[in-house]
Amino acid sequence: MESRDALIFFVNGKKVEVGSPNPETTLLQYLRQTLYLTGTKSACGQGACGACTVMISSYDVTNKSITHVSANACLVPLCYLHGRAVTTVEGVGSSQTGLHGVQKGMIESQGFQCGFCTPGMVMTMYTLLRNNPTAAKEQMERVLEGNLCRCTGYRPIVDAFVEAKKNCPCGLGLCQQTTETPVSTVESTYQKDSSSQDVIFPPELQLTESYHTKNVVFSGDRYTWYRPTSLSEILRLKAEHPDAPVVMGCNSIGYLLRKGKLTSDVIICGTNVRELVVVETTTSGIRVGAGVTMASLEHSLNELLGKTKDPANRCMKAALDVLRWIGVDQIRNTATIGGHVMSHAPNLDLQAFLLAAGAELNFVSEGKEVRLCKMDGDFISNGYGHIGGSEILVSISIPYTSDNEFIVGMKQPHRRGFDYGIVTCGLFVELDTSREAVRGMRLAFGGVDKKPVLALSAAKSSIGKTWSEDLVAAVCGDLITELNNSHYDNSKFRLTLACSFFYKFFLFVQDQLKNVNSSSQYSVTGLPLTTVSGTQVYDVPSDDGNRIVWKPVPNVSSEYVTSGEAQFVDDIPSFQSELCAVPVTSKHAHARIISVDPTHALELPGVVDYINSSDVPGSNRFGEIVPDGTLFAEDEVFCCGQVIGAVLAESRAVGEKAAELVIVTYEKMDTTFTIEEAIEKNEMFDGVHKIDVGDLESIRGTASQCVEGTCSTGVQEHMYLETQSALAVPKLEQHELEVFTSTQILTSTQHILSQFLKIPRNRLTVKIKRVGGGFGGKQGDAVAVAGIAAVGAWKTKRPVRCVWDRTTDVRITGKRHPSKSVYKVYFNDDGKILGLDLKFYINAGYTQDCSPYVVKIGMWFLNGCYNIQNIKSEGYMCKTNLPSNTAFRGFGAPQMMFAIESVLQHVATQLKMAPEQVRQINMVKQGDITASRQIMPDNNMLRCWTECRTDSRYDQRRQEIVTFNSTNRWRKRGIALIPIMFGIGYAPLVANQAGALVLVYLDGSVLLTHGGVEMGQGIHTKMIQVASTELDIPLEKIIISEVSTSTVPNTTESGGSQVADLNAGAVRNACIKIRDRLEPFRKAKPEDTWENWVNAAYQERVSLAATGIFKSREEGYDFDTNTGVHANYYTYGTACTEVEIDCLTGEHQVRRVDIVMDVGKSLNPAIDVGQIEGGFVMGYGLMTMEEIKLTADGRMKASGPLEYKIPCVRNIPREFKVKLLQNSETVKTVYSSKGVGEPPLLLASSVFFALKEAVLAARADFGLTDDYPLKCPATTERIRMACQDKIIDRCQQAETKTSSNLLVTI
Ligand SMILES: Cc1cc2nc3c(=O)[nH]c(=O)nc-3n(C[C@H](O)[C@H](O)[C@H](O)COP(=O)(O)OP(=O)(O)OC[C@H]3O[C@@H](n4cnc5c(N)ncnc54)[C@H](O)[C@@H]3O)c2cc1C
Ligand code: FES
Ligand code: FES
Repeated sequence: MESRDALIFFVNGKKVEVGSPNPETTLLQYLRQTLYLTGTKSACGQGACGACTVMISSYDVTNKSITHVSANACLVPLCYLHGRAVTTVEGVGSSQTGLHGVQKGMIESQGFQCGFCTPGMVMTMYTLLRNNPTAAKEQMERVLEGNLCRCTGYRPIVDAFVEAKKNCPCGLGLCQQTTETPVSTVESTYQKDSSSQDVIFPPELQLTESYHTKNVVFSGDRYTWYRPTSLSEILRLKAEHPDAPVVMGCNSIGYLLRKGKLTSDVIICGTNVRELVVVETTTSGIRVGAGVTMASLEHSLNELLGKTKDPANRCMKAALDVLRWIGVDQIRNTATIGGHVMSHAPNLDLQAFLLAAGAELNFVSEGKEVRLCKMDGDFISNGYGHIGGSEILVSISIPYTSDNEFIVGMKQPHRRGFDYGIVTCGLFVELDTSREAVRGMRLAFGGVDKKPVLALSAAKSSIGKTWSEDLVAAVCGDLITELNNSHYDNSKFRLTLACSFFYKFFLFVQDQLKNVNSSSQYSVTGLPLTTVSGTQVYDVPSDDGNRIVWKPVPNVSSEYVTSGEAQFVDDIPSFQSELCAVPVTSKHAHARIISVDPTHALELPGVVDYINSSDVPGSNRFGEIVPDGTLFAEDEVFCCGQVIGAVLAESRAVGEKAAELVIVTYEKMDTTFTIEEAIEKNEMFDGVHKIDVGDLESIRGTASQCVEGTCSTGVQEHMYLETQSALAVPKLEQHELEVFTSTQILTSTQHILSQFLKIPRNRLTVKIKRVGGGFGGKQGDAVAVAGIAAVGAWKTKRPVRCVWDRTTDVRITGKRHPSKSVYKVYFNDDGKILGLDLKFYINAGYTQDCSPYVVKIGMWFLNGCYNIQNIKSEGYMCKTNLPSNTAFRGFGAPQMMFAIESVLQHVATQLKMAPEQVRQINMVKQGDITASRQIMPDNNMLRCWTECRTDSRYDQRRQEIVTFNSTNRWRKRGIALIPIMFGIGYAPLVANQAGALVLVYLDGSVLLTHGGVEMGQGIHTKMIQVASTELDIPLEKIIISEVSTSTVPNTTESGGSQVADLNAGAVRNACIKIRDRLEPFRKAKPEDTWENWVNAAYQERVSLAATGIFKSREEGYDFDTNTGVHANYYTYGTACTEVEIDCLTGEHQVRRVDIVMDVGKSLNPAIDVGQIEGGFVMGYGLMTMEEIKLTADGRMKASGPLEYKIPCVRNIPREFKVKLLQNSETVKTVYSSKGVGEPPLLLASSVFFALKEAVLAARADFGLTDDYPLKCPATTERIRMACQDKIIDRCQQAETKTSSNLLVTI
């Protein structure tokens, strides 16, 4: 072994040589920071989002074959790549050389919005189609499980795959590569020369065997990375460095490596040891090399399955079921079986399965015999997660199953697709020859303790007993005793799952014994999978020249987004002398700061400064409404994660290390976290908002019925894929500062930064090209990030970049306000609602931020879609020790609309009426007056409701569901039809305005800008459509480069679903000015060209620059008196949703959604359909799976998408039908279009109410006919625990132990 080697690998066909690679460096860091290939995005750094997906190609010298796999660059250590080739999005296609079929497919299907996830999506698709050009739709969906998108709702991305296949030049799929068989000449660089050719696998890597067969060693500052290529060499190294970890895919151990927390300074990488990557069959079973990846094992098992007969192959079938749901392709492609078995985690799927299968581990150490170790109770107690210093795991042997043996592996995650199991299991039984009694049993569970558990007592006491329902009862009893421990806060649920798994296993074996397939009753592999399909129905006006408005043109940034060229803040190349700001945050939820000592941090080489409140030249305080927040905490902290100061360092890595060295001493104080606690302690911000309309007092006496209840909604993390980011660049002359920031509120950022720095606003330019998803989350929190960068830059006179990593972002920033509504509703026997008394509480966090508006705007929606004339309501902001909750798509409306729909549902249950009947009886009509005193302008809501009800065949399907439910005990369905209406407009009159600037150059090109921030809602595309229409020139002549306070000042924030309404008016007005000025020249030479008219005007010294301003209305709204106009108009919609639940696990699937939405005359129907689908899926997350728990001392458990689950492609409705209401117009906007950003999110409550119906059907089978108060979000846990049955009865009766550090759900 040489003392030091150079790392050689290829990127996009180009050879890269790294002299002293640092083992801590990831491929992602190297691509972005050294090669400046910023198309590969960083969104989580946890392997949990797929934004960093690249293709890694390897050459197998033995088989002379090339493999291409997708991988997450954020997890792959640079050193892993020696002798391999990497393809990034830049290598697939570009706007200059031409786009690839996959990229074109994304454009044609409108498969992106903000575009931050898009390069990762492109790479996932590209890799699949490169390997399998004829991949089926199910495979496409399966690979996409590894890529999260917060904007689109995924349906168009799935469609993009189909388009991509069509776009292949050869017509067969994707076959652009020429040849990958070894060539005779060695070229160090082999790059593609045109868009019609893929980057091929570098011949040099095929022809130079030593890349793969030579032992190499790389030395970094802290670690030395050995890559041996034979078993003898790896054993020698392990003997020499017994403490050194053997690393394979680095999926488990990589975290420690990246953070520099590995205790050994030597790392031994086993990926190239041939003996470790063999899968072979023996007389007794299958032997799997420890270095075999999960993907290869799946492949091998699928091949072996055909060659091996039942009963021997039962273990293979079961293993395949388990492998199907481990991680995603990007993980399975690098994660190895050995790494999995040797990882220390409570809930690894294959571990539980292998324990049940009775697998045997083969360990070897230098000069010693093979040590065979059975995976059994002893292994867990003594050997689990630890092996002798000099040993390595070489292979795992899985025995065949015999005739009377049955085995399954199951897991139940929070979210089906890309999630760890809450509980995971492997269950095995051997029956006697009569197949009636148990001869042996192995029951292994993960997720019930700190490590996997083999339920030995349950298994032992079953021996000799008859395989029957009685045995199930006995085993469940034993499991409840045996698995009951204090490690989790939800032990009853975990016990319930374990017992339910066993019951499913029992049913499965019964069916096997009878040779029947009864998957319609239950399933051991989750609910049945179908692929996504959808329809999008809208009108497109007939072609009339350059009149582009109302047409579904593709996003104007399409080619840049799909090629990775679109620039986000963190993609801006580094400035010389640039610094990185890393925050120092509070570790306590409420404490007095006694002292802060940054001495050790400042001593670290590369650290330049530490800034805190004393460095803020102006005011350290800010806030959206009242300045009760601080940029840097002063003498008290009010939530975990509150920023105390920031380290300024020359690199992010150094900054992160230094931030941990800042010593903060605290004195802990009392805390409040939940709404209930705040109510009890009366911890409220001042200002109760009241609405009192009609005469509720008189109703109290006259209504024939009254029910009361409570309902609540949970917290929701924005999870925009681009984290908060800002870059502040000082311009020393005139004391100016230029700030690039990912924000929705340009003007407020300029205003607040000018207050921090105490400088006039004309010295502060704030600009943004695009935001990688905002959803309301890039307002106050974005200002704080920009503020830290600005203060740092001001003090050091150097550019400062401040980009939150995902964990910081999740833990520091505000979220959607959890809410609680306490109501009393008065109604008549016919279902007519007469009055409502409702108290509305939101959890505001520790400062007010925009909470007063969230309460007030929420209360605009007090009557939902219904005509309720007598309402008394009070809205409260609970003050808690959480980060300040903030704006989020819908801004109080989703919480209130959910409350009102819950009220309606309650009325229906009380009267034993169908919910849709109660809804229809009470629905508002033209002329009715809302709680916020707006007069309903039309009957379009009723139109949406009626069309949706008809199109979806709601009434027939409801009957079909009754039949389904009566014949299925363990699977139930539910359906719900829910209307929404959403008033568009800001209350303060001043906010209902926008500005634009149009600059025409002498070549006829047009530079347009306006006040709206592009964050995925397609605003720039729509504005260019408007300009193109008004100037009567093609779209291609117009671009929007960025929005900036230096071009359009004093803009209104981008939010409230009216960015397009307002800015379209302003753009139009500016364009009309230009058009009018050119009119004489046009008239003089009508046959001439646009360019010539422009030049003629210039010759006459006519200005070719114009500003436009637009005011949307003349009357504002006064919250205090509940008078005036807030709703310029209403956007309406109705959704019909059908779901299915698995009563034994709580899993659900949305089977079908039909939406009819009134968005007026859509400016761009394709974009608006995208908003509807994306909004619905985001709301679906709120209603079903998005949940944050706190530790008892107030720390958020979630640190990113690994724990906080947003919907993935697997979860979206299997059938997704969207229709835009025809013939809808409004005179309130210039092109008769309506705002659509927020309203569709509200439709997702239909999923919740459909789930509730399914749950009630399950309870009815157990004889319960109550109105079970299912809580929102309807998580897997809540659904399972609501489906009362004998298992739950037993688990509920059990004296479960619970963790001392109870989690708090907010
Ligand atoms: C985003 C993400 C999602 C995931 N989802 C799931 C999931 O849904 N279900 C699930 O079960 N798991 C899941 N995992 C975990 C995954 O299965 C394991 O992390 C993976 O199998 C580890 O394999 P590896 O090759 O990457 O191991 P490494 O990380 O390289 O190594 C893991 C450990 O094993 C040791 N080791 C490795 N090979 C040997 C050997 N031959 N001899 C001795 N010691 C060895 C290492 O020293 C280290 O301690 C997920 C992981 C990630 C990152
Ligand atoms: S950034 Fe790599 S998976 Fe999220
Ligand atoms: S387009 Fe997918 S995250 Fe925005």
